[in-house]
Amino acid sequence: MNRYALFIIIVMAFSACNFNSQKNKKEKTQNKMTINKEIFGKIDKQKIFIYTLVNKNGITAKITNYGGILTSLLVPDKNGNFKDIVLGFDNLDDYLKSHSYFGAIVGRYANRIADGKFTLDGKEYNLAINNDPNHLHGGIIGFDKVVWNTEEIKIKNAVGIRLSHLSIDGDEGYPGNLGIIINYFLTDSNELKIEYKAVTDKATPVNLTHHSYFNLLGAGEGNILSHELMIDADKYTIVNKDFIPTGKLIEVKSTPFDFTSAKMIGKDISNVEGGYDHNFVLNNFSGEIRKVAEVIEIESGRKMTVLTDQPGMQFYTGNFLDGTETGKNNKVYEKHFGFCLETQYFPDSPNQVDFPSSILRAGETYYHKTIYKFSTQ
Ligand code: GLA
Repeated sequence: MNRYALFIIIVMAFSACNFNSQKNKKEKTQNKMTINKEIFGKIDKQKIFIYTLVNKNGITAKITNYGGILTSLLVPDKNGNFKDIVLGFDNLDDYLKSHSYFGAIVGRYANRIADGKFTLDGKEYNLAINNDPNHLHGGIIGFDKVVWNTEEIKIKNAVGIRLSHLSIDGDEGYPGNLGIIINYFLTDSNELKIEYKAVTDKATPVNLTHHSYFNLLGAGEGNILSHELMIDADKYTIVNKDFIPTGKLIEVKSTPFDFTSAKMIGKDISNVEGGYDHNFVLNNFSGEIRKVAEVIEIESGRKMTVLTDQPGMQFYTGNFLDGTETGKNNKVYEKHFGFCLETQYFPDSPNQVDFPSSILRAGETYYHKTIYKFSTQ
């Protein structure tokens, strides 16, 4: 099928489905929820936008169509004081230069694929190598560097934006034209909800995630080592020196990876070389959404709960931040100044027969839902 025809079909199908989009401008301010669109900059001659979503409680999310990046997320503490709790930059140029994936949508395959190779239906595919010797986060021009099509959306109790993109057959070495739709919603229940859908015309691995670095004290205000974290995972995927899973699932019990009861991120981090950058095997994987993690920063009282339908989650403690990047409000990002909870298929799944399959075939729909919910205590 002509790839543009495929894309149009995908967009129409998804627009008509359960998302229930309403473009009535009058509704934009209903319940005090608002969406505002501004120019963020230009890439060549193409305008890049930034969308500001505000919910009825004043929680504010800013998202740009460059990389689907969440550039800012204002969330209150226990006294009602708002802080921006995601790392990022004030301007587009700094995002163009960065290799940290701050706040971005990551794909076609989030995380690593060993040696950038996999075999599917008897054929070997070679992907771009951008994290020697591996393929990382979709390659050289992954979805974090794509200029997405956008549409404002409004549904009951939420405002959002819909991002869409067609990744063509051969993109970064992947097979098949892949049409992707991502909905970012900010709900009146203080959730940042991300829904991902994709369809293809040829079998391909698909693993989409969101790469915000959170700091519940406020972006750039210190490290995250005193945050308390619970991850509902009894096992994790142990990796080799190149961060590729060996295929073994290891029990977290009696290891630094045991977050089954809340503990400070910094408690055992010195026993993990470089810091945490590991995939946790989330309990109770059935395809249904369930609570998988909770993070609390005691001083501010800010709490974030993570819910997902995915089998795995990369817990990354900003180990490669080294003070060379200066973010919003001139704050320098040092090691461990943010943590990521990237819901996903396990790393290197296309080469690991025992892991849940990340292969999407023609006629199937990839679907992923993750919610980051905010509260105080
Ligand atoms: C992921 C990876 C890390 C690192 C960061 C980006 O979390 O697992 O190893 O590549 O992205 O710096």
